[in-house]
Amino acid sequence: MKHLLGLKDVTREEITEILDTAASMKKLLLQNVKKLPQLQGKTVITLFYENSTRTRVSFELAAKYMSAVAVNMTASASSVQKGETLIDTGRTLDVMRTDLLVMRHPMSGAPHLLSKHVNASVINGGDGMNEHPTQALLDMFTMREKFGTLEGAKIAIVGDIYHSRVAKSNVFGLTKMGAEVCLFSPSTLALPFDKLGARVAKSREDAVSGANAVMGLRIQLERQKGGLFPSISEYSKFYGIGEKEMKLAAPDAIVMHPGPVNRGVELTSMVIDGESSVIDEQVLNGVAVRMAIFFLLTRK
Ligand code: CP
Repeated sequence: MKHLLGLKDVTREEITEILDTAASMKKLLLQNVKKLPQLQGKTVITLFYENSTRTRVSFELAAKYMSAVAVNMTASASSVQKGETLIDTGRTLDVMRTDLLVMRHPMSGAPHLLSKHVNASVINGGDGMNEHPTQALLDMFTMREKFGTLEGAKIAIVGDIYHSRVAKSNVFGLTKMGAEVCLFSPSTLALPFDKLGARVAKSREDAVSGANAVMGLRIQLERQKGGLFPSISEYSKFYGIGEKEMKLAAPDAIVMHPGPVNRGVELTSMVIDGESSVIDEQVLNGVAVRMAIFFLLTRK
């Protein structure tokens, strides 16, 4: 692989290799090893056209922990504001001998376009409503750590499916790994994922019943024109996950969320801060997974 643009076209074997490599990286992180030599002499630029905390910082830390020169470029503080095109911006960074370009963009397909115009390896840090492959990989890594295998694991994904790039990458990845994925959302925010090997649940209770992992999704108000559900309080009442819903899940089921969470909307505070929550572990695993991706994309 030269680029990581999405999980749609990544094989089960490639996903397994990324997760296995991330397991080695996590061992080093837990030993507080933060100066590995693998990216010495490499330059990583994070090019973000949308806000981010977890993705941008964990890519930057992963690059620095592996001895790369890491530069962050925020589009809002760059010549993009003077009208420079995406391709011209990418080419400008490319001629500075960039090896890895991590990009987040509000337009679906933007990293795919960029990858055709630069020599650097392009990693998709989230493109519009399309994919967020590294988030799904860190989600799968977290689940595999808990369950030992993804084969046969029951995963419920509840929330704003329509706008969610996280849901799409997770469906592509998890179904390839043999997990049973079940989705539930307001009907105005649904997608026909049954055509891609997932199950579309009839109700929230149907989705979470017997699930080994319950993943809440953020309501993406920035991508909505409004009117897709009556109010935030009704959304949380009918589509939110709380202790009552988690009682229907499998014993020892885990609660996940890609973040940032709207507390009390997608998940109750009791669930976010409860013993079943692995949300903080997802964040830590994100660094290990991104280190693994850097390693594998630059490996000769
Ligand atoms: N999960 C995720 O993409 O979070 P950020 O928007 O903070 O990067």
